[in-house]
Amino acid sequence: MPNSIILKKKINPFNTKITVAGDKSISIRWILFSSLANGVSKAKNLLMSEDVLATIKAIRKLGIKVYYTKSICKIYGKGINGYQYKKKIIINAENSGTLARLVLGLLINTPNIIKLTGDKSLSKRDFKRISEPLSKFGAQFNLKNNKNLPLTIKGSSNLKSFRYLEKKGSAQCKSAVIFGAMRADGKTIIKAKKSRNHTELLCKHLNLPIKIKNNKNYDLIEVKKVKKIKTLNYEIPSDISASAFFIVLTVLSNNSKLIIKNVNINPSRIGIITILKKMGVKFIFKNIKTYKGEKNSDIIIKSSKKLNSINCSTKFNSSAIDEFLVIFLVAAKAKGISYFKDLAELNQKESPRLKWGSKILNKMGIKTILTNSSIKIFGNPDLKVNKKIVIKEYLKDHRIFMTSAIAALSFGGEWHIHDKDSIKTSFPSFLKILNNLKK
Ligand code: S3P
Repeated sequence: MPNSIILKKKINPFNTKITVAGDKSISIRWILFSSLANGVSKAKNLLMSEDVLATIKAIRKLGIKVYYTKSICKIYGKGINGYQYKKKIIINAENSGTLARLVLGLLINTPNIIKLTGDKSLSKRDFKRISEPLSKFGAQFNLKNNKNLPLTIKGSSNLKSFRYLEKKGSAQCKSAVIFGAMRADGKTIIKAKKSRNHTELLCKHLNLPIKIKNNKNYDLIEVKKVKKIKTLNYEIPSDISASAFFIVLTVLSNNSKLIIKNVNINPSRIGIITILKKMGVKFIFKNIKTYKGEKNSDIIIKSSKKLNSINCSTKFNSSAIDEFLVIFLVAAKAKGISYFKDLAELNQKESPRLKWGSKILNKMGIKTILTNSSIKIFGNPDLKVNKKIVIKEYLKDHRIFMTSAIAALSFGGEWHIHDKDSIKTSFPSFLKILNNLKK
């Protein structure tokens, strides 16, 4: 089948340096902020994946000019109120939850109805979590089944600020409300469970009227109406979520060493590092820099001989949310039973990932106990897979595909993994980097 791969052999030891794709969360946010700026913003190393290209298409629909090549992207912003709301436009967010949710925050003043659509996977996801808070500003929504895409949004010219309590630890919900608050009169107050903070860091870097108080479990964010946004030239660092696949491959392989260049190590994103450290993995960070409020560094990683199981504290859930599938692979090889809990949000992703994580481990011969929000993984340090494993029907979820490929190269067996094209959404160069490591 042209859209699947077959992997039949564990990877040989490797010792090399790689650069992975640009960070997806920062890439999408850079495009959205630049679309509101007064003038031309430029980015280097913007992630060129389907989710990011869908974001470019979305702002073009709103009348913003974008020019890009492989190495540079330029956005010709027309100011905070520069969108042209033509009648009957449809924005197709394709597979991107981040685009779909964040852009709604910017559309709460549209005088014309805008329709938002997505692919099959995105259309199954929850949008009530966004329409509910954004309607408090005064925008009106109509959702399929009261919850899903397609939806329509009709904005208001009389937007009012409000107090928002974000309890899920969702950066998408928090960011959509921050974007909304930039258009609303008065002061919006957001009390948000900790989650990635790229939107806040960009607001601060741009000197927008935002105040942030970091408490232990919650952040308190105050946002006032924005009058003007300056242009934003940005060199996007590499994505920790893309690096995670290669970190875990190195940990699980024999006698290997890897350097991953200039990765974003924002503390709100590095749950995987904290969790793997607790499981016995050693990391070295070199060339640590702060760039426009974001912390970036080279990550050096070696194979781990001994891995411990973990009873994972829920305080790492949000900062590791996109990495749990590969963390589960490490737990499969650890000594003892690992326990991950309060993870119902994982089943709200591109596919029900908690279930799929368990399914993949079971196919490898690892026992799990699964509930709607938790998983116990019975690790086996001597695990070797000798059978045929087929991974399909996972709703075009890029992270299921890439996790399965890492499992195949780490544990052996004959793996048939469908839907290779799913990697185009977040990490199109994944297989190329993997093939170079295999050489
Ligand atoms: C993202 C936030 C997370 C994450 C997603 C990207 C973002 O989603 O899973 O891949 O860029 O804001 P939630 O906010 O729904 O947890």
